[in-house]
Amino acid sequence: MTKEVEKKLIETALEYRKRAYSPYSEYKVGAALLAKNGTIYGGCNVENAAYTPTNCAERTAFFKAVSEGVTEFEAIAIFGGYDGGELKVCAPCGVCRQVMIEFCDPDEFTIFIGTSKDNYEAHTLREMLPFSFSPKELNR
Ligand code: THU
Repeated sequence: MTKEVEKKLIETALEYRKRAYSPYSEYKVGAALLAKNGTIYGGCNVENAAYTPTNCAERTAFFKAVSEGVTEFEAIAIFGGYDGGELKVCAPCGVCRQVMIEFCDPDEFTIFIGTSKDNYEAHTLREMLPFSFSPKELNR
């Protein structure tokens, strides 16, 4: 990916963080998912009074893309932190990592996490989810 696209991905995640619906935790997360076709899908966490229906920002972005017929991805950027506070490094939760491995190559999919548009790092999905259970396990 070009530096320009990377910058756009980071900015989109930060922008979508503002849309977080998180009245219960007050923790706001934004994500931006880059499809191989170049489209960027933004997502935010969407909480619920019953708590368990809560959807993370990452899965919001994935489900938006998949529901549009897009299933091939290159990278995701994720930024989180308490409302009004500094950003904290927000690594994706286990459920979101499992959704990522459903669609993404562990060695090619990049996960950007950090604390600002100028301070973030890249990890592979394999680093985040070693020894995974993926669709290829279900091929007889
Ligand atoms: N959350 C995300 O959206 N993504 C993550 O990677 C970690 C956690 C959300 C879920 C919940 O709305 C809030 O952050 C606190 O856990």
